[in-house]
Formats: sequence, structure tokens, C-alpha cells
Amino acid sequence: MSKKILITGGAGFIGAHVVKLFVKKYPQYEIHNLDALTYAGNLENIEDIAHASNYKFIKGDIKDIDFINSLFDKERYDGVIHLAAESHVDRSISNPNAFIETNVLGTANLLNAFRDIHQDNFKDKLFYHVSTDEVYGSLGETGLFTETTPYDPKSPYSASKAASDHMVRAYGNTYDLPFVISNCSNNYGSYQFPEKLIPLFIHNIKNNKSLPVYGDGKYTRDWLFVEDHAKAIDLIFHQGNVGETYNIGGFNEWTNLNLIQLLCEMMDEKLDRPKGTSAKLITFVKDRAGHDRRYAIDATKLNKTLGWTPSVTFEQGLDKTVDWYLENQAWLENVTSGAYQEYYKKMYETS
Ligand code: NAD
Ligand code: TYD
Repeated sequence: MSKKILITGGAGFIGAHVVKLFVKKYPQYEIHNLDALTYAGNLENIEDIAHASNYKFIKGDIKDIDFINSLFDKERYDGVIHLAAESHVDRSISNPNAFIETNVLGTANLLNAFRDIHQDNFKDKLFYHVSTDEVYGSLGETGLFTETTPYDPKSPYSASKAASDHMVRAYGNTYDLPFVISNCSNNYGSYQFPEKLIPLFIHNIKNNKSLPVYGDGKYTRDWLFVEDHAKAIDLIFHQGNVGETYNIGGFNEWTNLNLIQLLCEMMDEKLDRPKGTSAKLITFVKDRAGHDRRYAIDATKLNKTLGWTPSVTFEQGLDKTVDWYLENQAWLENVTSGAYQEYYKKMYETS
């Protein structure tokens, strides 16, 4: 069936993978990619589909109500897959308002515009909101986040995502706006901005720079290869039940130190350096404020109801990821020039 779909944040890390998957897999759909091209958005991430006949890029800000309303009025989207967000916890600690504005108000603008064009007649329409496991807060040593775990966000980032999830569900309840929400664990893979742990550390190892480990390094995350997240979004968009939430995760928990150790070993081998060279760069630094101790997702519902399962092991995914960054030095150099230098100085060189 032909559909006009708006994907927001499609020049960012996960969005770029989702846009490319949809443009290539569904030639019958018209895919629009709306992105403000903030520091995290980069047209190079989606270069290979830029001229596809079923694709259009729109530069614009979800915070801009008038712009969003006129865009929806003109294009009358059947579906929205909403990924645009401020996404980095450390930035949310230094500038929470940017997160409230984009993640909460921006999401509300999209919901209102979607409602307005369909006049509450939503047959065959869908608003897909992409969210994070961080809305559930922090786990102790045991247990997993399920879809019914109460929300308990602890950083300005996760609180803004939680607020946006609540708005989506409230529109579903109040106006019968058809939605699905997925809450995913930490992603890694190609095109991730090198402020997040894995690409930052790959970049630093390559350049013999220190590896800033926050606190004791025993914080735990559940890592998922980004292409598996994009495939889960495709599956949920097409086969998920309206009004439901799906947790997405790899059953793949790593403490930061164990992950960094594995990364260092891989990089030594790939860069032909003696074993143990990269690990010498590990430097313990001041902890992140309010640092969540552990995240871990129970993705049983998605597996049992829609048959989704990750396609690669962590070792395979990380190996592909390291290769990608080593083969795409020009991409890394482009995104780490200019404003990135200021950010790095402020975050890591002033304390
Ligand atoms: P990202 O920071 O790499 O990309 C975000 C994109 O949104 C960028 O292209 C940016 O230009 C765009 N954007 C930001 N503000 C905008 C605005 N006001 N208007 C329009 N576009 C704007 O983020 P990501 O890691 O790709 O995350 C995408 C989504 O997935 C986010 O909603 C995030 O909360 C969620 N998520 C991320 C992870 C993860 O591990 N990265 C895990 C689970 C969920
Ligand atoms: P990050 O990639 O920022 O994702 P999130 O905070 O959303 O989980 O961080 C992953 C983990 O790595 C987290 O426990 C914080 C830690 N970390 C460091 O130790 N040093 C760093 O420089 C960064 C960016 C993260």
C-alpha cells in the first residue's frame, strides 16, 4: 500500500539507519526526512539515498510550531516515525532546557499537527514514538526493565523522554490517536556521533588520546547493534499493536570497563599495536552527576509477539563498528572539527 511517512531526526545516528532501511525496502512509500541538522545531524549519514525517487529531505525544526503545522497541512502524512531529539545525557546535565524544548514541546507539536490534519479520523494512520530504556531509571544488580516497569527517569534527558512518552500515551487515551512506542537500550554502530562511549573511545584510541572512564567504570549498559534497532522499528511499525509499547534490547549487558577492555583488544589487533597498548589510555575521571548504575532490557514481548531477535552478537557488531570507523576517517574528521573541539574541551579538559 502506498503511504506518505515522515521520519524525524533522520540525519542523526539511528534515524539515518531507519530512513535508509525504509527508502530501500519500501519503494512504494514516499519517505520524508525532517531534521534540523543540529550538531548531531549530518547529511553525509544519508548520502547514499539522497537522490532516491521515493525520498525527500526537509530541513526544519520540530520546535517551530508554524513550520510544523504548515508542513503537515501540505503533506498530510499517513504515518510519523519520530526520532528527532536531543540525545546525550552529558549535554542534558549542562543544558536541560534544550532537552525540554525539543523532546517535550517538539513532540507535542508533532502530535498536535498529526491530530489537526486527520481531524481525529485516524483510520490506517500511525504515530510511532521512538524512546529509550532510560525512562525506567536505574536498576540494582538484578532484574530487567519490562514494558510495565514504572517510569523513574533520573537525568534531564531521560525525564524529557519520559515526558514525551507520557504525552504520546495521553493523546492516545484522550483523542484516540493511534500510536506505538518502543523503548530501546544503548545502540552502537556506524554514524554515531563521537560523544557517546563507543565512537568516542574508538576515536581516542586511534589518536592515542586518554579514555575518560567515569567513576569506577562498573556502570552497566545493554548494547544493541543499530541495524537491529532499525529492523525492530520496521517490524513494530508494520505489525505492532496500536496503543502498545515494545521494549527493544539485546540481552547483552556489559560493564563499561569490560566493554572498553574488549574494544582496546580489538583496536590493538586492527591497528597492529602490541597487546595492552590501548588499555594504557584508560583514565578514571570524575563521575557523571546522577549517573544511572545499570540498564537492562527484557525484550521478551517483542521476541514472542513479533518474532524479533538481534541478528549479530556483540563481538560481531563491535567488530563491524570498529572497521567502519577505521574505514571512514574522513567522516570522523568532519564531525570532530569545529564545534566538537569546544565541546571536548568543556567536557573533558576543564575539570
Ligand atoms: P542523535 O543525537 O544521533 O540524532 C538526533 C537527530 O535529531 C539529529 O539528526 C538532529 O539534527 C535531530 N534533531 C535534534 N533536535 C531537532 C529538532 N529540534 N528538530 C528537528 N530535528 C532535530 O540521536 P540518536 O542516538 O540517533 O537517537 C534517535 C532517537 O532514538 C532519540 O529519540 C533517542 O532518544 C532515541 N534512542 C537513542 C538510543 C541510543 O542509544 N542512541 C537508544 C534508545 C533510544
Ligand atoms: P553514553 O554512551 O553517554 O550512553 P548513556 O549515558 O545514554 O548510557 O554512556 C555509556 C556509558 O559510558 C555510561 O555509563 C557513561 C559512560 N561514559 C564514560 O565512562 N565516559 C565517557 O566519556 C562517556 C561519554 C560515557
